[in-house]
Amino acid sequence: MTDPKPSTNDILSKIRAKNAAAAPAEQPAAPVAPVIEAPVASEAVAPVEKPAAAAPKGTSDILAAARAAAKPAGTADILAAIKKPAAVVAPAAPAAGGTPKSPADIMAAIRAKAGAAPAAEAAPAAEKSVVAKAAIAAPAGMSAAEMIKAARSVAGGTPVPPKVVLPAKPLVGKAPVTGAKAPAAQIERRTAVGELVVFLLSPVFIAWASFSTACGAFGLGVARFMMPNVLVEPPTKFKIGPTNDYAPGTVSTKWQAQFNIWVVNGEVDGAQMIYALSTVCTHLGCTPNWLEGEQKFKCPCHGSGFYKNGVNFEGPAPRPLERVGIRLAEDGMLEVDKSVKFQRELGQWSNPSCFVGVT
Ligand code: FES
Repeated sequence: MTDPKPSTNDILSKIRAKNAAAAPAEQPAAPVAPVIEAPVASEAVAPVEKPAAAAPKGTSDILAAARAAAKPAGTADILAAIKKPAAVVAPAAPAAGGTPKSPADIMAAIRAKAGAAPAAEAAPAAEKSVVAKAAIAAPAGMSAAEMIKAARSVAGGTPVPPKVVLPAKPLVGKAPVTGAKAPAAQIERRTAVGELVVFLLSPVFIAWASFSTACGAFGLGVARFMMPNVLVEPPTKFKIGPTNDYAPGTVSTKWQAQFNIWVVNGEVDGAQMIYALSTVCTHLGCTPNWLEGEQKFKCPCHGSGFYKNGVNFEGPAPRPLERVGIRLAEDGMLEVDKSVKFQRELGQWSNPSCFVGVT
């Protein structure tokens, strides 16, 4: 078996034999051996080959180079070389006092606590407590400004102003609601009003409202169609008072507007009587006017004229005015009946139903 660790003499003999086998005129080249340098903490670690150096002059140099060539550094050695300087590069502890002064210090302390154990261990005891509290108060996803604010609030630095909570705004036009259930009642009322407005503006409600309105209008039209068309007219029989209200030789226009009659107390064929004349002109139906000064009825439409007794004497009117029925009622009142007409040209004025004799 071959000894894994040759002795010094063996190594020297091998080297010298090798050098002797080389060209005698030239200086033997120094064995190239990988030299591992201590990497910087933040840089990638990789073995760096040292450039060819001058020929070894001493035994110790030759042994070091031979051992390095015979047994290169392993992964464990490289990692050990990396970790050792990393602890040296850890950020320095903050100034005495415990409380971080600048945002950079606070951020470094928080990040060291969260991710870099060596840095947190290097911090003083006072800062450790601050860092631990800040780390608890700074969850993942928090911004740098929020982390600084949380750290200062934990360390007793700049006080964080309390959050101002404004009171609920009372409803306009209504008395403020008091009690523990007031906000909930207001919110519930506003929600109900909002739902009602949304329902009233919904297409479904508008469609049903329009349909109901149309059906109601159609029903009203049908009901009106089923009712008879009645023309309300003044009664045809009415009382016009006692005979004393009508002085002899006068024409009363008291009932012209209401009943379309004139009441005349005049003398006809030597007899004093009261009779009622229709105000309808026998020409084309206009209403003549009683002219007291001229003692005649004058039609404004075509100029027909009628005497006090109703006989036409001028204008286009073809016949005298018509009389209506009149009688003396049981109560002594004159009662007029417009449903009955009496025409002079037909000899009807002699009918006692168309006059009341007075003394
Ligand atoms: Fe009275 Fe023609 S209507 S004169």
